[in-house]
Amino acid sequence: MTRAYLDKKPGEVSAMFDRIAGRYDLLNDALSLGQDRYWRKIVARAVGAGPGQLVLDLAAGTGTSSRVFTAAGARCVACDFSLGMLQVGARRPASGLRFVAGDALALPFADAAFDAVTISFGLRNVADTGQALAELLRVTRPGGRLVVCEFSKLPVAGLNTLYEQYLARVLPLIAGRLSGNAEAYDYLSESIRDWPGQAELGRQIGAAGWSGVRWRNLTFGVVALHLARRPG
Ligand SMILES: C[S@@+](CC[C@H](N)C(=O)[O-])C[C@H]1O[C@@H](n2cnc3c(N)ncnc32)[C@H](O)[C@@H]1O
Repeated sequence: MTRAYLDKKPGEVSAMFDRIAGRYDLLNDALSLGQDRYWRKIVARAVGAGPGQLVLDLAAGTGTSSRVFTAAGARCVACDFSLGMLQVGARRPASGLRFVAGDALALPFADAAFDAVTISFGLRNVADTGQALAELLRVTRPGGRLVVCEFSKLPVAGLNTLYEQYLARVLPLIAGRLSGNAEAYDYLSESIRDWPGQAELGRQIGAAGWSGVRWRNLTFGVVALHLARRPG
């Protein structure tokens, strides 16, 4: 499967997120009809981090995906390469939450630094999925957890075709109007369409060295959670 939207240079992707940062959380709520809040709760449960544990939330954007971990008593590092997204997030400080600028392809963290690592709606945007999964593995302690939350495929073919038409025609129109940035939401549609299905992503996670890979669908497969552990 080609992923033509990845022809953008990393600097262009971070600049695109910088431009939508101010309205990002509002748009997420609107476009997902509030489902994003439910997905984040399930991610928090899957990560299962509590007091005394350190979580890396990669491609954390404004840190909305990170706050569920600090709410559960864990400490969390919210890492992203869009300074615009990080700045919006830093306006809402939270106890135990630290924002760090960094690239998923060369993480600025020591080996085995985290008890758990997670990435929500970010892996699809990273130029090299395998390299990002390998970096996540490197910074996770042996036995530590990975949770990937990402848009996915609806298992019923007819429904998935309808969903793809919604993504291609309806979503960019609504999102373009609300955000004033049509480009970012064309990118969203294309990236969801071209992203691999549940089984293929599971295979890629295993190929990067993670063990015990499994997944579950949320909201009929609009989103899938992939779970795995660092061996050892
Ligand atoms: C759709 S947002 C997701 C934000 C947040 N995790 C959430 O669930 O709302 C995707 C984020 O991925 C970040 N991103 C894309 N490629 C990246 C990379 N190579 N390194 C770090 N962050 C990256 C973007 O800057 C953007 O903030």
